Amino acid sequence: MTTTNQVSSMSASGPSRNVPTVGQKRLVIVGATGMVGEYALRDALEHPAVGRATSIGRRKLGISHPKLTEVLHRDFADCSALAETLSGQDAAVFCLGAYTGAVSDAELRTITVDYAIEFARVVYLFRPAYIYPVEPRKEPNFSYRLLRMIYPAFRVLFPNQVIRADDLARAMVDVAVRGTGEPQSLVLENRDIRAMVESLQPLRR
Ligand SMILES: NC(=O)c1ccc[n+]([C@@H]2O[C@H](COP(=O)([O-])OP(=O)(O)OC[C@H]3O[C@@H](n4cnc5c(N)ncnc54)[C@H](OP(=O)(O)O)[C@@H]3O)[C@@H](O)[C@H]2O)c1
Repeated sequence: MTTTNQVSSMSASGPSRNVPTVGQKRLVIVGATGMVGEYALRDALEHPAVGRATSIGRRKLGISHPKLTEVLHRDFADCSALAETLSGQDAAVFCLGAYTGAVSDAELRTITVDYAIEFARVVYLFRPAYIYPVEPRKEPNFSYRLLRMIYPAFRVLFPNQVIRADDLARAMVDVAVRGTGEPQSLVLENRDIRAMVESLQPLRR
């Protein structure tokens, strides 16, 4: 999962519900039909510093919002068609991904590595440990079903090995909006992500 803020150049437009006001950011969310991406999009739409959120994905979201623009893109191996969409954006939160076992190993690498590299080259790479699905979902496999069941004890015993999906999304959107002050690519481990969330608000249970 990545956040990039290498794209810039915000146009200063007049105040309107649909157009970012001066100082507001234009944010792209990739993979907003997924668990983490959906929270990231929700956060971006509610964030006062975000004037426009552009969702890029292969499926329709089925929602509308005055701040939301939706772009359908089927093949993330080739993002050249997205050049126009990405110009003038301030940052992107990349939540596109797949689970081990759901696709072949080669496909998993293509989706989680190649697509991210094709999309952006200067990134903040988020490396969460166990992402707790706040809202029940169809778990990808048995280990995720088990982790969900033992989460109340697991998070007490190993706090640095868990992060809630909504907290992770919040940290990603916050980094996209504010940056980290670091001039180059950065890898953020679960512990760093938790610290980041805690600096915004107390971590939720
Ligand atoms: N849960 C954990 O504990 C955990 C921990 C560490 C890392 N992760 C990783 O975090 C990532 C995101 O997790 P999540 O639960 O939010 O995933 P998710 O709910 O499965 O969402 C994945 C997103 O990626 C999109 N996508 C998948 N394959 C695609 C493809 N070939 N082309 C275009 N879009 C594609 C999906 O689009 P569609 O809706 O169209 O399918 C969806 O928007 C995953 O890679 C996961 O392995 C998870």
